[in-house]
Amino acid sequence: MSEKTGNNGKVYRIKWHSPSNIALIKYWGKRAGQLPINPSLSFTLSRSFTETELIASTKSAHDAGNLIFKLDGEENERFALRIRKYMDMNQEHFPTIRNYSLEINSANTFPHSSGIASSASGMSALVLCLLSLEWQLSTGIVLNDEFYKRASYLSRLASGSACRSLYGGFVLWGSSVTLPNSSDEYGILLGENVSSHFLDYRDTILILSSGEKSTSSSAGHEAMKTHPFQQGRINQANQNLDNLLEILRSDNDQAFANIAENEALSLHSLMLSSNPGYFLMKPETLKVIEIIRNFRNDTGLAVSFTLDAGPNVHLLYHKSIETDVRQLINGELVKFCENGRFIEDQVGDGPKLIHSEIYE
Ligand code: DP6
Repeated sequence: MSEKTGNNGKVYRIKWHSPSNIALIKYWGKRAGQLPINPSLSFTLSRSFTETELIASTKSAHDAGNLIFKLDGEENERFALRIRKYMDMNQEHFPTIRNYSLEINSANTFPHSSGIASSASGMSALVLCLLSLEWQLSTGIVLNDEFYKRASYLSRLASGSACRSLYGGFVLWGSSVTLPNSSDEYGILLGENVSSHFLDYRDTILILSSGEKSTSSSAGHEAMKTHPFQQGRINQANQNLDNLLEILRSDNDQAFANIAENEALSLHSLMLSSNPGYFLMKPETLKVIEIIRNFRNDTGLAVSFTLDAGPNVHLLYHKSIETDVRQLINGELVKFCENGRFIEDQVGDGPKLIHSEIYE
């Protein structure tokens, strides 16, 4: 047995690319078992993604279970602890690789503090690496429908929104009477339920502030447990979902704009009305929203916005009005962006396996 190869004579190297996503119907509030209080719907992004490589070996008995995590080449013990805890809590899904010594190298395409949540792409990329190697070692790797369903299930347990990153296009997480195959436990691809029109949607992310958030999403989910508007929110999300599912089959951009903005503003109003209340929008967020709405009223062009749990504004629009939106950004919006920064993204594909290699 060599120092470099495992005691089974092998080192495994596996690398996945996994995208981030932007929610149109927002997941906000969860029940025990990391289950959502309402269904959510997102589209997968193309240019905002994580690439993660897993190197697994059984160098020596005392290395078994060792785990090193590096983000952009730098060791990060906080994340390593989070991953170890996750693997311990989900032991039954990783019976083989939990006995390996693991090195995980991860990098995001979007800057750290760009305001794009890295947990959706980061956690789904990590789970894809762990699960594909686990399956390869135990049953032989098969990237079939069952694999992606399990990967979505396990990504949810790491971070809720991550379970929507396992497919390209539009994805629903959470059970809805309208779609019988939907589930609270994993995301499903909307596929034929979405017209080709909406697959040509753009998301330009205006970075208004990249500072640390004053209140985390975890605290926000927690606050929903005792929120006086909890039931109203559940009803609203389900109603907005039903309407959006119908709109996505059409090419009705104005109706889409209405739902997207209602969801974004409702999310932030739930933060304002939590106890204690808080807000993550900045004065620039409101200015930008006002400009977008005036532009839509004046021109009839259906550009709309959504917001994550943060101050940055996602501009949503069909590719046919790209030139007009670019003029709007350059003329009126870029001045509100931190260092003039914005990210031009769009609806994208699901995860990709980059390589899977075994060294003797
Ligand atoms: C506002 O998925 O980050 O982005 O499950 O605790 O990891 P955890 O929360 P997270 O929450 C995302 C909230 C949101 C809306 C959404 O993506 O649906």
